[in-house]
Amino acid sequence: MQKILAFESSCDDTSVAILDTDYRVLVNLVSNQPEHLKFGGVLPELASRLHLKNILLLTRNALERANLQLNEIDAVAVSINPGLIGSLLVGLSFAKSLAWSLSLPLITVNHMLAHIFANFIEHRQIEAPFLALVVSGGHTELVHFKNLTEFEIIGKTVDDAAGESFDKAAKLLGLGFPGGPLIDRLAKNGAADFVQFPRGLIRKDNYNFSYSGLKTSIRTWLSTQEDGFVQANLPSIAASVQQAIIDPLIRKSLLYARSQGLRTILIAGGVAANSALRDQLSQQAEKKGIRVYYPSLPYCMDNAAMVAAAAVPKYQAGLFASLSVNAFSQKGTKII
Ligand code: KG4
Ligand code: ZN
Repeated sequence: MQKILAFESSCDDTSVAILDTDYRVLVNLVSNQPEHLKFGGVLPELASRLHLKNILLLTRNALERANLQLNEIDAVAVSINPGLIGSLLVGLSFAKSLAWSLSLPLITVNHMLAHIFANFIEHRQIEAPFLALVVSGGHTELVHFKNLTEFEIIGKTVDDAAGESFDKAAKLLGLGFPGGPLIDRLAKNGAADFVQFPRGLIRKDNYNFSYSGLKTSIRTWLSTQEDGFVQANLPSIAASVQQAIIDPLIRKSLLYARSQGLRTILIAGGVAANSALRDQLSQQAEKKGIRVYYPSLPYCMDNAAMVAAAAVPKYQAGLFASLSVNAFSQKGTKII
């Protein structure tokens, strides 16, 4: 069994992990950056500086906790897009230096692809072909995997991402950031049919998504309501918003999977943590003979174990990067 040392630094979490080629996590350390909280969003320059400060220490800790020496590592993996370019460069430069000094293969990974492969850590039995529903703060995509290294993007959002919609709705409701977990928690005690918000592109004959109409509709609806009424009914309003976000995700995932005879759907990205999406997609899929997988909560968030997991098929196929490879910030799930 080979061991992959992986780095994740695309946004505001520095993470170092060691995984073996059987997807077994030997260590997965994540260092968050609470320094951004007081700014109400991630400050790119600050994020890069904090990655720089954390990455060596985290790597030493990871090796110590896994009880491994650097000479026991077989490959180095790192996410190189999408993300904040300064942050990505910290991880990439560090990974390149290690790969060069230890004469190890370097494997570069797309961060969204890594979110998808987070599923393999706890469900090694997953087999291609499968459909991946990628839902995060910046992405909403349906990706058809023919095998573990070949895939096609068959639909995506034309405006806001699903996670972004949770965050914007929570802001309009005065709930705080990030909005997804707050709405998820509130919605558990609410009625999802309390307000009928629009479902973007749900009846359109394609696999794209749209959330800008929903955002406008929430704002317009709130402007016509008494504040006391809104406060008294927050759980049901949250549940209605959540349902409007997840309905198109569920419907289009199932529609595509059935049209292609796919029996497996993986949910990936931060919004894969949403309990209603997990439960409803699983229940509806089961009736159609489709199995749904999603990672446990820690592996839904940004982490380096998922980067190592996405590197496993590339390691096995000998798909290594040259030391001249660069990071890039372009959105999307792309093979690299
Ligand atoms: O993948 P991620 O950690 O970061 C990137 O965007 O790359 O995803 C973060 C997004 C945020 O928009 C957050 O609100 C959303 O995931 N999220 C959730 C939940 N937990 C996190 N959305 C809905 N329900 C949740 N439980
Ligand atoms: Zn992410």
